[in-house]
Amino acid sequence: MHIDLQKNGYSVAALRRIAQKRLPRPIFDFIDGGAEDEDTLRQNESAFLDWELLPKPLNGAAKRDLSTSLFGHTLSSPLLIGPTGLAGLFWPQGEVAAANAASDYGTVYCLSHGSVCTLEQLAKMHQGLKWMQVFIYKDRGFTRELATRAQQSGYDALVLTIDNQLIGKRERDIVNGFTIPPSLDLPQMLAFAKKPSWWWAMRHELAKVTFGNYVQSNSPESVSALAARMGSLLDPSMSWDDVDMVRAHWKGRLILKGVLHPDEASQAVKRGVDAIIVSNHGGRQLNGAIASVRALPAVVQAVNGAIPVLLDGGIRRGSDIFKAVALGASAVLIGRPHLWGLSVAGKDGVQWVLEMLHGELDRTMGLAGARTIEAIRTGQFIQST
Ligand SMILES: Cc1cc2nc3c(=O)[nH]c(=O)nc-3n(C[C@H](O)[C@H](O)[C@H](O)COP(=O)(O)O)c2cc1C
Repeated sequence: MHIDLQKNGYSVAALRRIAQKRLPRPIFDFIDGGAEDEDTLRQNESAFLDWELLPKPLNGAAKRDLSTSLFGHTLSSPLLIGPTGLAGLFWPQGEVAAANAASDYGTVYCLSHGSVCTLEQLAKMHQGLKWMQVFIYKDRGFTRELATRAQQSGYDALVLTIDNQLIGKRERDIVNGFTIPPSLDLPQMLAFAKKPSWWWAMRHELAKVTFGNYVQSNSPESVSALAARMGSLLDPSMSWDDVDMVRAHWKGRLILKGVLHPDEASQAVKRGVDAIIVSNHGGRQLNGAIASVRALPAVVQAVNGAIPVLLDGGIRRGSDIFKAVALGASAVLIGRPHLWGLSVAGKDGVQWVLEMLHGELDRTMGLAGARTIEAIRTGQFIQST
């Protein structure tokens, strides 16, 4: 099925609708869903309305420069791709497709612990900037092992996600009874048969879909059973000592993902972390947690310029990126939007999302009168509503 992105994929929301038509329901819901009543998921998006733009059109921003620098690398814009598990379920070799789209665009791709391909496979097929995301496991040796593997494979930074110490209750996955690898029982086959273009593209891949970086179980498991098994590897007793342990082990840039509280942000600076990502895991973990953009100002204040503060959650428009930067974010990451692009058109779809958000940010800057990313930071272009 050829999709005319120009005509039909004109916004992130429009792409989401196309992804919904193309993907079997359990798979679409796996991407789309959040924890429990999904309040945090919704708030992540709507909280951007807490701020409005204060344009200065007479600034004369005919030419805009969206590039920005992070850890000494120049990126095309302050827009990165965040870690999302199982990308290889939405498109053949989904992680490689998304990573290569990111490097063609000029940004970072962060591989999830739960990728379908192994971290070594991605490193072989992707020459661009790449970060590796890990957790604190009960077996601390496994955290160190993943970090060592990432170091040996040339990853540019390690992202330690701290908000996944228990697995969130994702009720859509429970209802759908979805399994990994997808089991070919009658209800599942019926769900897949309704989506022939996805099924056709994935027919040779499905049996291989698994969490590549982990030791495998031999039989299909429901997403909730799998989550429980993964959950049993994780350690809710993790503490700052573990951050120190990872800091001592990993020689490159260390980024803490899932910081919402300003106290944790200040502590991260003291512990020698190189950047933090203000995030609530896209509303998939602690329902009721503060929307990430609402948490951003206090975190930026606590960090006081010591290290870069990034943000993810609810970025759907270029103007969202503008607001996050105006509130002090060095850059933002997207999760679901790149997966919708990936599901619709593979690498081209991810590139499309990045270029579309780039275009929207560029237009917002032009209309607001901000010529550079630095100008957004310093120009007082927003106020709270
Ligand atoms: C399908 C899916 C899988 C995810 N897997 C991971 C993961 O493995 N590790 C992680 O740190 N975050 C994971 N996340 C969270 C994202 O990194 C990011 O925090 C979130 O998606 C940002 O919100 P957004 O989807 O509104 O952009 C996942 C998100 C989605 C949608």
